[in-house]
Amino acid sequence: MCGIIGYLGQHEAAPFLVDALRRLEYRGYDSAGIATVNKGALDRRRAVGKLVNLSDLLVHMPLAGKSGIGHTRWATHGEPSERNAHPHKAGPVAVVHNGIIENYRDFRSELKEMGVDFVTDTDTETVALMVEAYMRDGDSPRAAVERLLKRLEGAYALAFLFEGEEDLMIAARKGSPLAIGHGEGENYIGSDAIALAPLTDKITYLEEGDMAVLTRTSVEIRDADGQLANREMREVKQDNVRVDKAGHKHFMAKEIAEQPQVISEAIGHYFGASGHQIRFPSDDIDFTTVSRMVLVACGTAFYACLTAKYWIEKLAGIPVEVDVASEFRYREPPVGKGTIALFVSQSGETADTLAALRYCKDKADRIVSVVNVPESSIARESDVALPILAGTEIGVASTKAFSCQLTVLLVVALEAARQRGTITDDRLADVTSALRGLPSRINMALDNEAVVETLATELSEARDVLFLGRGQMYPLALEGALKLKEISYIHAEAYASGELKHGPIALIDGNMPVVVMAPRDALFDKTVSNMQEVMARGGKVLLITDKAGLDIAGDGLWRSIEMPEVEDLLAPILYAIPAQQLAYHTAVAKGTDVDQPRNLAKSVTVE
Ligand code: G6P
Repeated sequence: MCGIIGYLGQHEAAPFLVDALRRLEYRGYDSAGIATVNKGALDRRRAVGKLVNLSDLLVHMPLAGKSGIGHTRWATHGEPSERNAHPHKAGPVAVVHNGIIENYRDFRSELKEMGVDFVTDTDTETVALMVEAYMRDGDSPRAAVERLLKRLEGAYALAFLFEGEEDLMIAARKGSPLAIGHGEGENYIGSDAIALAPLTDKITYLEEGDMAVLTRTSVEIRDADGQLANREMREVKQDNVRVDKAGHKHFMAKEIAEQPQVISEAIGHYFGASGHQIRFPSDDIDFTTVSRMVLVACGTAFYACLTAKYWIEKLAGIPVEVDVASEFRYREPPVGKGTIALFVSQSGETADTLAALRYCKDKADRIVSVVNVPESSIARESDVALPILAGTEIGVASTKAFSCQLTVLLVVALEAARQRGTITDDRLADVTSALRGLPSRINMALDNEAVVETLATELSEARDVLFLGRGQMYPLALEGALKLKEISYIHAEAYASGELKHGPIALIDGNMPVVVMAPRDALFDKTVSNMQEVMARGGKVLLITDKAGLDIAGDGLWRSIEMPEVEDLLAPILYAIPAQQLAYHTAVAKGTDVDQPRNLAKSVTVE
């Protein structure tokens, strides 16, 4: 949700800025822009739409200068346009911003009274204008920023550049992530380690309320009280932040294909190379005394939580409540002793999930997070952060992060059951060995690609698609529908198959494909009855099941995908593969922008 980069170096800044924005484009792609200081003069270039428009513009209108800031935007205030694109400039000040300034209307009124005109519809422009106004009062750039930060409400990661200041960049963070990169005679600012990766592996993450003043040879960080702050400098492994498609057409295709490998890494992390001993920070989480768990997340991570509810309740007997973070945080739910609050987030920066976590602090017994980015705010603010080890995920539609979240959540359920004595050693050993075999099952599922591709061509003609699942397959049906709609723009909905008769069956006709996800498990016969009800009304059913399922229910289907057999508990992880492949190939068949679907961004750092 908006990406920020800043470069204070020995070389021309523009190529570095554009290159970093390319790696940040997953955060937003409504417009992009850069500003530099060259021989004291502050200038900028901005272009609406994808980054390629900005790089094209720079070919015709280059921008010189060895210090610069850049931004890729996901629009909040004001339509995507060049006028509303960052950097925003007011007199000697240029600024880029990720977040929302909630009291920007107050600043607008103040500025109006001063007779200032606005040229954009954004909240960010008021930041540049206020700093300019303070500088007109006689404040230095630094004093002006400090003065404004005390008044800013909302969430922000900000980077400032000033006319006449070739060796100065100021950054500030509250509510949105921001990191400082340290180089040799150079220093940088970036939204994340991915942005800074080729520039440096030495990174300092700013804390809430921090302000940093950078020159080429120094970085001074002060906390919210203005005190010098000594923030840890970390080395980030370049492998962890590598961003390339490795020969695939899209990041999403690469990330789907990586699942056997990343899931096997997650399994290795939590179980070691052999045996069924769970390597879990169990001293930190006592499941024996809890009476309830609360699971909170957004988007795909929310569906991972819904699946985990089935596992935790079934295996460990702990009542589980699941909520989307944007609802949870404002509903003032009672959270007290005896509750473990668990937050799931790929990025670890989703604003609503972070706010929900903060709401639970000092209320719940333990704050646990399941995250992909170990340095993220959600990981850092948890008592226990459980890594999912999916590696960098760039495709806006989450794939490998989802299956790794599920894997780790299943480990949580197994550990809770182990501690509470609700699983026998033999059963734990069986599930663990099935988990160890999961990567090879996923490889087999991936081999269905050609079948799915053909099917997806037909699916791409549909206007609406219905997904059905029962029990632990219901959340997966929801995820399948979400994947399809977000990248192919086909309207898709999911229902618990038992709910079909209570309304959605009215939608059934010969045009709408109905995707049924049903491994041959204890609920299979029930799901098949619901499927028959669809077929009896002329519905077109695509059944995703195993050989045993097809042997029983294969007649009269419109289409089918045959899955490998798998231990019941693992079916939601395995069946995520055809759900993802179906969405991917349908989107490719429709010619939509798979990795950067319209209106979306990967990391949602605003409410
Ligand atoms: C956005 C992304 C989704 C993601 C959700 C939650 O909507 O497009 O893929 O599931 O945010 O993000 P998080 O980083 O918290 O998992």
